[in-house]
Amino acid sequence: MIVPKPVKHEARPGSFVLDSRTPLAADPALSEVAAWLRGELAPVTGGELLPGPGSGTITLALGDLPPESYRLTVGPDVEIVAGGPAGAFYGAQTFRQLLPAAAFRKAAAGPFTAPFTVPGTYVEDAPRFGWRGCLLDVARHFMTKHDVLRFIDLLALHKLNVLHLHLTDDQGWRIEIRRYPRLTEVGAWRRESQTGWNGAMDGRPHGGYYTQDDIREIVAYAARRHVTVVPEIDLPGHTQAAIAAYPELGNLGTPLEVRATWGVGVNVLNVEDATIAFFQNVLDEVLELFPSPYVVLGGDECRKEQWRDSPVARRRIAELGLRDEEELQSWFIHQFDAYLTERGRRLVGWDEILEGGLAPGAVVASWRGELGAVAAARSGHDVINCSNTSLYLDYRQGPGEEEPAPFGTVLTLEDVYAFEPVPEELRGDPAAGHVLGAQCAVWTELIDSTRHVDYMAFPRLAAFAETVWSPAGRDLAGFRERLAAHLPRLAAIGVEYRHADGPLPWQTRPGVPGRPEDPERWQAKIDAWTSNLRTL
Ligand code: ACM
Repeated sequence: MIVPKPVKHEARPGSFVLDSRTPLAADPALSEVAAWLRGELAPVTGGELLPGPGSGTITLALGDLPPESYRLTVGPDVEIVAGGPAGAFYGAQTFRQLLPAAAFRKAAAGPFTAPFTVPGTYVEDAPRFGWRGCLLDVARHFMTKHDVLRFIDLLALHKLNVLHLHLTDDQGWRIEIRRYPRLTEVGAWRRESQTGWNGAMDGRPHGGYYTQDDIREIVAYAARRHVTVVPEIDLPGHTQAAIAAYPELGNLGTPLEVRATWGVGVNVLNVEDATIAFFQNVLDEVLELFPSPYVVLGGDECRKEQWRDSPVARRRIAELGLRDEEELQSWFIHQFDAYLTERGRRLVGWDEILEGGLAPGAVVASWRGELGAVAAARSGHDVINCSNTSLYLDYRQGPGEEEPAPFGTVLTLEDVYAFEPVPEELRGDPAAGHVLGAQCAVWTELIDSTRHVDYMAFPRLAAFAETVWSPAGRDLAGFRERLAAHLPRLAAIGVEYRHADGPLPWQTRPGVPGRPEDPERWQAKIDAWTSNLRTL
């Protein structure tokens, strides 16, 4: 009962016994995977795995397979043959799932101690998509480094390979930039936070940031688990925290606070050369910390009121011969596309970057439904399907009033499981090859703790993992069976997932009102949001 479902999974005769004397042998190219597996298994066996080979050995070997593919055979011995370290890692993850759920505990504990007997098994497996992502919004509510590392382990358990870290927004700047210390001295802290959607404030300061050493640790920890951390520095909207730190970045010339309320704010960057230079200097440091080939520069929800009122913005539009503020936004993003391309990286932007003409090498993260994905793929751009209506895990999980801070339309576990990464309009079209994969999102305006992240992300993230890893086609009954075996693993790790019948009493949040949306109103909102995309 493996999650996500492998390509092929069969029972075989024989069995394997894992105990404190089990040897582990690995090809030298897979020594890091072996070290990771040793670390994961040592607590449950109650001892170190011995250096292999010997009888009843676990072997990690390289074979002629694609890098993320593997074959796992369990008999008297365990053999994982993989195309490369990533494939071996996924094979090892699958092997862990053949053990009892108790094997996911951090320490051998009485009745949970090995030996464990694993029935004979054969698994052949490879991912369907190369981009299997999850966005974590650490800007709206800060998550400690420890919690981010734990979240990376949970992504890796589900064979996801991209952590998109939303590091900056109106409500907080979360990454140390040496050249501009006020970004975190000022921008990482806000006076208070809005609770729910009735405008009430909690009256309690909130903040936090990652030092550059923290970021290096997060990136290295993730790399060892074959997760690429893709940073997002959101521009030119969603920048009030940066403007609070350096008012010269804004349009007003008056001081602003780090924003304490939610929603799409009016305060955006100005379009002066000095502002572009400022963010290129920021990116110099970001690129040094994140080896990711992709860098997200946002581009979403940039309100245009301040640009309309700004003589500098109007002059830019006239000088450049642009049609309007949409094209000005496009021009702004283009400045960074050239910058990133020169440095061998690719810009990822939310689908708004389509609206005034797309930068040549840009990848589109399509979030407002799938229109952006279709338009971008047809114009030859790579696309990540991040459709809010299927993949925004901050949306409510059930219709009941007891859901904690309900927001958005109802997005059940079954809805997420039904998601198909290739939009219907692209099926059978060669442009479908531009769909790199898909990404779910944990936005945290209303999610202020790791416990609440657990509740919103799990088990929907397990359903999402099947949509990007497993072969096309869905089998809900089969998924339910696999999930029944998977939930005890999450429980053993300590994940406070949502139970099928709703929140447990302490998972409700009485007094924190949500914003329930009726589906028609919601559709009207999406139609309005995407009216620009329809004309592309
Ligand atoms: C987004 O949800 N603004 C990308």
